[in-house]
Amino acid sequence: MNKVDRDRSHKAGPGRAVVVIAAVLAAMLAGPAAAEDAKTIAATVCVACHAGDGNSVIPMFPKIAGLQEEYIVKQLKDFMSGRRKSDIMAPVVAALKAEDVAPLATYFSSQKMKAGEAEDKKAVALGKLIFHDGNEETGVPACVGCHQPEGVGHVIYPRIGGQHATYVAQQLKNFAAGERNNDVSRYMRVTAKRLSEEEINAVAQYIAGLGAK
Ligand code: HEC
Ligand code: HEC
Repeated sequence: MNKVDRDRSHKAGPGRAVVVIAAVLAAMLAGPAAAEDAKTIAATVCVACHAGDGNSVIPMFPKIAGLQEEYIVKQLKDFMSGRRKSDIMAPVVAALKAEDVAPLATYFSSQKMKAGEAEDKKAVALGKLIFHDGNEETGVPACVGCHQPEGVGHVIYPRIGGQHATYVAQQLKNFAAGERNNDVSRYMRVTAKRLSEEEINAVAQYIAGLGAK
């Protein structure tokens, strides 16, 4: 743009409007930035079940805020390939493009998971024992070994501290039954199978209350 054009475009009148419209069109054709895209998808699609910031308020639906980026990418790809089965997530990922996966993972992992609360306070003591020490008698490993203190997770080991107890217990049952079998190393299937129903409830209650403070 030479000086004369620039001066013209700053004057009121049709010239200015054309410049503005051209700028909007150019932006539309270039497409929104990836980060904007992920935020839009989160606010229009994921919001229905996980809330826009990933802090689902429905106990059956996992909180996905603050989960490890690598872990989210793996789960979305596993839902896409059918390796992780879910009648609810399958149609959701079917509508996503492959290039949406990484920005969505970046967006949700950068949100902060809100602390939860144990509802069954009596179960918390047993849950704490399982989480920190496992159960030597039945060969249950300590959860803290992989999921880290406070359950904050690390890379492929998901954050579980603060997660809904209902969701955690359901996933442990799914691993035990082999209905969830996308844990590459089988650690979770082996671990969950060794937990009693009482231990599953207890450790889920303890986990839900982690991160609270
Ligand atoms: C209609 C409800 C619904 C919608 C909409 C939805 N989800 Fe989910 N999502 C679920 C349920 C239910 C599960 C748990 C599936 C299972 O049982 O294993 C889940 C699981 C997940 C998980 C795995 C969480 C974990 O802790 O392992 C991720 C990641 C995820 N969803 C991301 C998304 C994203 C991103 C969107 C938007 C593009 C989305 N979901 C939209 C219901 C939904
Ligand atoms: C040897 C490492 C290891 C140990 C020990 C371990 N986990 Fe895991 N856990 C994993 C990995 C890896 C995953 C993710 C699997 C995948 O990729 O889907 C996982 C996933 C989970 C999930 C699903 C999280 C989600 O958001 O869907 C829950 C719940 C869980 N673990 C609970 C436990 C509990 C409770 C214990 C202790 C009794 C435990 N884990 C011990 C490695 C471990």
